[in-house]
Amino acid sequence: MSETIISPSILSADFANLENEIKDVTMNGAKWIHIDVMDGHFVPNITIGAPVVKSLRGVTNSKLDVHLMIENPEKYIPDFIKAGADVITFHIEASKEKTLDCIKMIKEANLIAGISIKPKTKVSEIAPYLKKIDMVLVMTVEPGFSGQMFMPKAAVKIKEIKEMAPNLKYIQVDGGINDTTAKKCKLYGANCLVAGNYVFKSDNRKYSIQKLLDA
Ligand code: DX5
Ligand code: ZN
Repeated sequence: MSETIISPSILSADFANLENEIKDVTMNGAKWIHIDVMDGHFVPNITIGAPVVKSLRGVTNSKLDVHLMIENPEKYIPDFIKAGADVITFHIEASKEKTLDCIKMIKEANLIAGISIKPKTKVSEIAPYLKKIDMVLVMTVEPGFSGQMFMPKAAVKIKEIKEMAPNLKYIQVDGGINDTTAKKCKLYGANCLVAGNYVFKSDNRKYSIQKLLDA
């Protein structure tokens, strides 16, 4: 079995010091870097956009894992491709009838294509696309903020997806992940764990990342 991928979310990092923050978690076992893009419409918060991804591309070889929490993702995906993203995930609740266009853009650029579902969105919504994508991101908090409580009911969908699409390359989980919730998600079939507070706010990041790998 291949090793679980840890993707620390820079939303919980020191934004004045991103280069060093990324180097620190990379040195300590994180393979991907999770970048939460929020537009103040799809979610009630605003974070960062493609220019930041472009700058980070210049200072790290880690996979830049871009999580788009934005309306009209089809309009912005080309900017994130150009900026140097490796993984682009958009929300099914935002892409609507443009879902296939979004997948096509990401796949034609040879990137990892992901679709995310909010805690209340059913797996049946993404079922038609499972064979066309590389990853499903199951949100275990309402998207918008780091540091929220894990929603166990939402995590059960990981199991459902694993059964429905056993060959899907990645099942990623995001929201309230710590060593206890990670264990549950891994048992359900997740192989990529996003963690914001648990990694970046930890006194010992190396230990936290190792705990997630061992969960
Ligand atoms: C929430 C974001 C998450 C968030 C995770 O909308 O998508 O990536 O930063 O933070 P924690 O791990 O602290 O819940
Ligand atoms: Zn995220």
